[in-house]
Amino acid sequence: MRIYLDYNATAPVAPGVADAVCRVLTDEPGNPSSIHAFGQRAKARLDDARAGVAALIGAAPSDVVLTGGGTESINLALRGACDALADSGRRHLITSAIEHEAVLMTLTVLERVGWRVTRLPVGRSGLVSPADLAAALGTDTALVSIMHANNEIGTVQPVAELAALAKSRGALFHTDAVQSAGKMSVQVQPLGVDLLSVSGHKFGAPKGTGALWIRRGVRLVPQQTGGRQERSRRAGTENTAGLAGLGVAARHAAATMADAAPRVTALRDQLEASILRDVPGTTVNGDRDARVPNTTNISFDGIEAESLLIALDLEGIAISTGSACSSGTLEPSHVLQAMGLPAARTRNALRFSLGPATTDADIRTVAAKIPALVDKLRRLTRRVVEVR
Ligand SMILES: Cc1ncc(COP(=O)(O)O)c(C=O)c1O
Repeated sequence: MRIYLDYNATAPVAPGVADAVCRVLTDEPGNPSSIHAFGQRAKARLDDARAGVAALIGAAPSDVVLTGGGTESINLALRGACDALADSGRRHLITSAIEHEAVLMTLTVLERVGWRVTRLPVGRSGLVSPADLAAALGTDTALVSIMHANNEIGTVQPVAELAALAKSRGALFHTDAVQSAGKMSVQVQPLGVDLLSVSGHKFGAPKGTGALWIRRGVRLVPQQTGGRQERSRRAGTENTAGLAGLGVAARHAAATMADAAPRVTALRDQLEASILRDVPGTTVNGDRDARVPNTTNISFDGIEAESLLIALDLEGIAISTGSACSSGTLEPSHVLQAMGLPAARTRNALRFSLGPATTDADIRTVAAKIPALVDKLRRLTRRVVEVR
């Protein structure tokens, strides 16, 4: 028996996606830029995928650029907007301290070439305060990039309010909606953003597929130069098979979200309540109300998160920590650090992220196994400390 509770890392493909990918690979070999019938059929696949993504986020298909994933969408949005605004006299960028590395690293690189970057703090809630954004915005702010849902703790930022503030000061607003699109309603117009990044593999499309929505009239300098694909916004022959899968996954998410989201929320809440009740010394990290339906991040006092992750893996249960393993050392999560959590709580936090295929039986099994595993690890940890 295997139980997968790591949907924020990636999701299994949605129904119909593998078939759509195989069909394009086997039956539709054309290049979408070719004029002949093969090419036109491949182009129709892309148009279909674009329309599927557009329907998911309430957008016009012509404003959607299909990309090779969330990281690429984010790079195109941030670098493309900065390049377009290079001569505007505005050289200031604002983000939050808890963004995904795709945003943080890109802004660090832009900082090296002369952009000034403000990283807004978040408190224990993991939420950006509109007052902090208002105070940071200046007449030279070119772009604000604040994520919609956080990948580690699931908190959903007040993007509509933040975007309105940025716009009132003449700045563009980008949101990384990689962890929210396909899991909850994400509609570009009510959010009021200018740029919105999406990744396919987080909601059942193949890995390496994504999209960037660009508000009409917003100028971006293409970051990949070459042919005129994607209306000259992203050069290179498109991944027709993968993107056909993206379209199917987007349509599936849009059609099933109204049923799936409350069910997933109820299962997440059930898991959370069981752990908090049955395992002493556990705390949920981040705001528990403003959250995507599928995510909970819980600190377990007196253990190292990786030990519990491995113990659960041996039981066939896949979850995740926020820590990143680099050069053999485990770096505490920058998200939990930015929230001001004590060092121990940044090292003993685990992320459980559910999906549409998660069942009540899965949650009962996981909830039943955790107390004994935590108890055993705590006893072992105490013994190690005593021996030292
Ligand atoms: C919030 C967030 N943004 C961006 C990305 C990058 O997306 P991709 O894996 O499609 O490059 C991820 C992936 O984990 C993410 O969680």
